[in-house]
Amino acid sequence: MVDAPAKPRQRLVPTSPLEPQEVALVRRPTLHASVLPPRTFHDQNVFDYEQEAWFAGAWASVGREEDARHPGQYFLAPLAGENLIVVRGNDGQLRGFYNVCRHRGATVVEETAGTLPRFQCPYHAWVYDLDGKLKQPRHTELLEDFDPAAWGLVPVRIATWQGIVYVDLSGAAEPLDLFLGDITTEFTRFDLGALRRVKRIDYDVKANWKAIVENFQECYHCPGVHPQLNRITPYNSGSYLPSAGAAMNSFMEVLPQFETLSMSGAADGRAPMAGMTDDDHGRIYYSVIWPNQLFSLHPDYLMLHWVTPLEPGRTAVRCEWYFDPHEMAKPDFNPDDAIEFWDLTNRQDWHVCELQQQGTKSRAYTAGRYSSMESSVHGFDLMVADRYAADGVITPQGRVSKQESTAAVKARANRVSPGNAAAD
Ligand code: FES
Ligand SMILES: [Fe+2]
Repeated sequence: MVDAPAKPRQRLVPTSPLEPQEVALVRRPTLHASVLPPRTFHDQNVFDYEQEAWFAGAWASVGREEDARHPGQYFLAPLAGENLIVVRGNDGQLRGFYNVCRHRGATVVEETAGTLPRFQCPYHAWVYDLDGKLKQPRHTELLEDFDPAAWGLVPVRIATWQGIVYVDLSGAAEPLDLFLGDITTEFTRFDLGALRRVKRIDYDVKANWKAIVENFQECYHCPGVHPQLNRITPYNSGSYLPSAGAAMNSFMEVLPQFETLSMSGAADGRAPMAGMTDDDHGRIYYSVIWPNQLFSLHPDYLMLHWVTPLEPGRTAVRCEWYFDPHEMAKPDFNPDDAIEFWDLTNRQDWHVCELQQQGTKSRAYTAGRYSSMESSVHGFDLMVADRYAADGVITPQGRVSKQESTAAVKARANRVSPGNAAAD
């Protein structure tokens, strides 16, 4: 019997293209640290390593369960150079597969989303059920050592949290809840899976994916780049939340005269989301969920970004807005003000990320320094640097200066503001 295991090729653990000493300066306390080495934004070897070791090496977000609600409903999800199929089976189960025909390797599904009774390869018409099983293909009856049961679509490990779909291409990551960490307990008061998408915008950004995540991690740039945002949530407001696991959580405060982030600052009659506390009404919660998700929870809507690296200097960013279906059913529901606000803010961000991408390529540029407003950028960069170093050391977050004692680090962990980490 020919061995045809329904598994991806044996994964070679890639070797890091950076030496620990190359990121040693990043791993210092924030006020002594350097930002990431410039080549990590441009080097193809670094990019390939990140894709294989990080994006294909553990859980990554790929979409929303609402796009695969009914039997046969599916969507395609780009991840680590793959274009995965996420589909709801006739048995109600959500599954994920590599979008690759087991015959001669053609892409099986071309439409990015839809509903199908089964998957039929466009090349020689091999047919796979929604659970991945291959039906006996024409003209294979006489093959020796060929059992169609062993030649189904290759499955991927899949799980969900709050309506968000994750896959683990390595098949070996810890359970999703453990991987995600504190964010799963931080937001249990909400049913984010019940929200529905109102708008999706896809951006093609000429910047490295890490520049985009770093940009999301600070508001040092807000007064100059986002006057509209800074008017509603001042750049130096807010705090970190406990952040163990894949997510780094924080919030910013909405000034009392405003209700949410929109062009006007008003929620246009939308009630706060079910589960919101009094504190939540005045906050925008922001989380980076390693490696590819930006999570922004407003009093009346959720916004998610998917950050999909395409090349060292090019990233696809998908932004989606979700609202409560009860609010959407109201005749005067109008989300345009919130969408316009973030579309503008997104474009402002992409512009400066692209400027950074251009400048960090210059022969004049050497790794810069973090301001005292960028300890959360440093926090993300530590996650990156530790993974490059691959020496088993996890650099503690929140170390600001060399003089700080361990006790001081612990004391500040719950009260430090992302905007003034070094001010006190
Ligand atoms: S490659 Fe799919 S049927 Fe031939
Ligand atoms: Fe920004």
